Amino acid sequence: MSVVKHSIAKRSFDAVVVGAGGAGMRAAIQLAEAGLKVAVLSKVFPTRSHTVAAQGGIGAALGNMEEDNWHWHMFDTVKGSDYLGDQDAIEFMCRMAPQAVYELEHFGMPFDRNADGTLYQRPFGGHLSQFGQGKPVRRSCAAADRTGHAMLHTLYQRNVRQGTHFFVEWLALDLIRDQHGDVLGVVALEMETGEAMIFQAKATVLATGGAGRIFESSTNAFINTGDGLGMVARAGIPLEDMEFWQFHPTGVAGAGVLITEGVRGEGGYLVNANGERFMERYAPNAKDLASRDVVSRSMDQEIKEGRGCGPHKDHVLLKLEHLGPELINSKLPSIREIAIKFANVDPIKEPIPVVPTCHYMMGGIPANYYGQVVAQKDGNANAPVPGLYAAGECACVSVHGANRLGTNSLVDLLVFGRAAGEHVVETIKREPRAHKELPANAADRALSRLARLEGGSGGEQVAQVASDMRKTIQKHCGVFRTGTLLAEGVSKIREINARAQRTTIADKSKVFNTARIEALELENLAIVAEATVVSAEARKESRGAQAREDFKDRDDTNWLKHTLWYMQGSRLDYKEVNLKPLSVESFKPKARSY
Ligand code: FUM
Repeated sequence: MSVVKHSIAKRSFDAVVVGAGGAGMRAAIQLAEAGLKVAVLSKVFPTRSHTVAAQGGIGAALGNMEEDNWHWHMFDTVKGSDYLGDQDAIEFMCRMAPQAVYELEHFGMPFDRNADGTLYQRPFGGHLSQFGQGKPVRRSCAAADRTGHAMLHTLYQRNVRQGTHFFVEWLALDLIRDQHGDVLGVVALEMETGEAMIFQAKATVLATGGAGRIFESSTNAFINTGDGLGMVARAGIPLEDMEFWQFHPTGVAGAGVLITEGVRGEGGYLVNANGERFMERYAPNAKDLASRDVVSRSMDQEIKEGRGCGPHKDHVLLKLEHLGPELINSKLPSIREIAIKFANVDPIKEPIPVVPTCHYMMGGIPANYYGQVVAQKDGNANAPVPGLYAAGECACVSVHGANRLGTNSLVDLLVFGRAAGEHVVETIKREPRAHKELPANAADRALSRLARLEGGSGGEQVAQVASDMRKTIQKHCGVFRTGTLLAEGVSKIREINARAQRTTIADKSKVFNTARIEALELENLAIVAEATVVSAEARKESRGAQAREDFKDRDDTNWLKHTLWYMQGSRLDYKEVNLKPLSVESFKPKARSY
């Protein structure tokens, strides 16, 4: 360890990966297996990263249960994205998905299996055969309803085998960029000591996950605070398509805990207060297995029209009693446990009360399918930012466009985590070089954030600002949106974001000071919240997860484009959607029904 002139310690690695969820750990395997010196920074112990919460499975057209192929998967993903997804990246992901799953199997992942030894696969929303014309296809490879849990343990063990250096309970604060815009590493804070350190790297891979904690009702872990997004936004890189947030149809009413779509994949279904299977009206073909935006909106509609259940008519019911104890206990054991603990019902006997709950961020850090972060430069909207990569939920590649299909997040993080790792390896091997010199102000931004908290007093309480932010986003940027609600939301969130930069903490101690961590996380959340509501207000159409009451239709003439939000000036720009796949015909936008 050396000490540079900023009087802050420094360590150097070939690559630094920020985040130890599925994407970060998959990238790290690729890097470490190539013999590179890799550091992985994580706020929590790696196997506690939010990927652990993924339940229902990984989508890959293995065709183990019936005929399937990657091209059908590609079509479903393009259609699911409401045609906002980039088709080059979608082709890449769907073609690579089977390999990603088999690699994981060979790493030792305990997948469920069929009697003949092949991997078991279950149906999931929006995954159909015959380019959407056929029946739901069983495409999701799962380890019961604990797929993410099994995946994280598998990836962690493989990393340990390869000698990856894990830095556990470290919060990355800011990127280090030089005068050319090259990224040379990050400054991070060790929670145990409260000391900051420079991690110098030839490549920095952001895999910081989502930011679902901007919503009051969320399936996301408390750690999902958009740290990578805050870092890139502060460094002058835009955030892409931030208006598109997925509401998972089945969060436990009142608690928000996820009930996997795998329940409906295994044959569960939703009913309203009249006991009616209402999805038959909204999606006659796919019914409860329509894509998530469609199911969530239908549920909200039922509730709005007075057919909600319970004394407040504020939720619908997910029925799975008919599946029987044997299937529930073998394929959905955690769901039973969650329902008993959080909804006080045993799903073997009673239905589970559910509501749409914020689950996933479709937008994020602009990246291409090699995992390189891209930004506007010399007239090129997709110029790679040297030294910077992003993969997993924090990245917007964009394979999910305006709406992600269930199971496509696990495949996204495996495919693009690997791709990012591979691109770093190839670049470092092709252009072997020493570390670039760090600029004199390398740590200034991060240190001044710490100094503000160190010195300030009498400012806003972090918990109060965070609560105001969550309530505002929940109210102004929910399943259904209107121009008036959004415009009010923009001014409220701008004010809240300014307050988030003025918080103070009473406890200035250094060792495991979680108040300091929460204040720093709130700065990131508030940036994400502002990007979300500003981008949503500007988009005058309904597409995927953005449903506007005042612009009910999709408008391909004016809005078939990606939003780019810049923190500096809170300004917007736009860039083209790539409708050109790598090797097959483009799927032209058409009306979307299930
Ligand atoms: O429903 C689920 O199991 C969630 C899966 C996903 O978000 O892909």
